[in-house]
Amino acid sequence: MHPGVLHRRFLNDLSTSLFSFVLPLLPTSEELNVKEEVRGLIEKLIKTLEPSARLLSFGSSCNSFGLRNSDMDLVVLIDDPNATIEPGNFVESMATLLERETNFNVKPLPRARIPILKLELAPSPALPFGIACDIGIENRLAIENTRLLLTYATIDPARVRTLVLFLKVWSKRRRINSPYRGTLSSYGFTLMVLYFLVHVKQPPVLPNLQRIMPMRPMEEEEVMLEGKNVYFFDDVETLRREWSSVNFESVGELLIDFFRFFSHDFQFNNSVLSLRAGQLTKESKGWVNDIDVGGLNEMARDRNRLCIEDPFEITYNVARTVTKDGLYTIRGEFMRATRILTQRPDRAVLALAELCR
Ligand code: CTP
Ligand code: MG
Repeated sequence: MHPGVLHRRFLNDLSTSLFSFVLPLLPTSEELNVKEEVRGLIEKLIKTLEPSARLLSFGSSCNSFGLRNSDMDLVVLIDDPNATIEPGNFVESMATLLERETNFNVKPLPRARIPILKLELAPSPALPFGIACDIGIENRLAIENTRLLLTYATIDPARVRTLVLFLKVWSKRRRINSPYRGTLSSYGFTLMVLYFLVHVKQPPVLPNLQRIMPMRPMEEEEVMLEGKNVYFFDDVETLRREWSSVNFESVGELLIDFFRFFSHDFQFNNSVLSLRAGQLTKESKGWVNDIDVGGLNEMARDRNRLCIEDPFEITYNVARTVTKDGLYTIRGEFMRATRILTQRPDRAVLALAELCR
């Protein structure tokens, strides 16, 4: 058979295999219901401490990139402007309360840089993997960046969700999704995929939601939160009606191209990935890593090996956890993935299994 035909067939096969790979890893509706019940229960208890408090989910439980049995990310928002609440103390009060009123294993971290409360429920027949959740205080930016990710997913769920979910599984199986061990968070990998679909692919698969302005004649839209511009175009109905991509590549093609781009083309040494603004230089952001700052500052040096700008908190490098070794490993994994997918074995299913081994 002609090699072109074989290649076409492999790409079709790869796309179908990606959908079937991801499908059984999605959370069941039962799991989602239990988690929502847990959230509601904890919220009720927290309201006894502070009546104006609300408990909201963020992260993968509501950005549509959730996998089965993933942790819950929760945040307490306090609406009463007169309530004087110090996050560390509030974490301690919540810990005491939840210890007394629930079966959760409670671990407060009130003096951490960002105070949080960790909760764990041991596995049971009804919940074979238990529940783990982190509760933070007043992290409103996380709610907004969760909404941004969800809106991107909503524009083209078949391609965007499949790519992100696959990358999350792949990065976890290959052990490069551990911010505490020098590699990158799921949030970081998700931003890489979105950056690729908005700024690298031509024609783009997704619009830049932070650049689309409403049709109404008015000055540039700014929505400020904690001193950050958190504006993005979130009118999904209008997007559905008025925006459609002219990029028709299949999810399989996009995956191969994603790995290829980050194996060979992206300049890790001097570039910053910015979903908001496209490719930036480390120099322009002051995120330099190759100055010799001496032995004492090895940690500071390591902070900007991989640079991913947060969409709203633009002075914050989401990938600051990635060390020199971590980046080396991540890049090695991108190359391995490119190799496996471009060697075109007979069956895409086998390639995916090999990729995630
Ligand atoms: N977040 C953030 N800054 C980071 C990491 C995370 O603001 N450096 C916030 C984001 O709102 C993100 C949420 O925390 O959506 C959860 O991050 P993470 O756990 O990395 O992503 P999940 O999608 O929840 O992935 P997982 O299923 O692996 O938990
Ligand atoms: Mg999470």
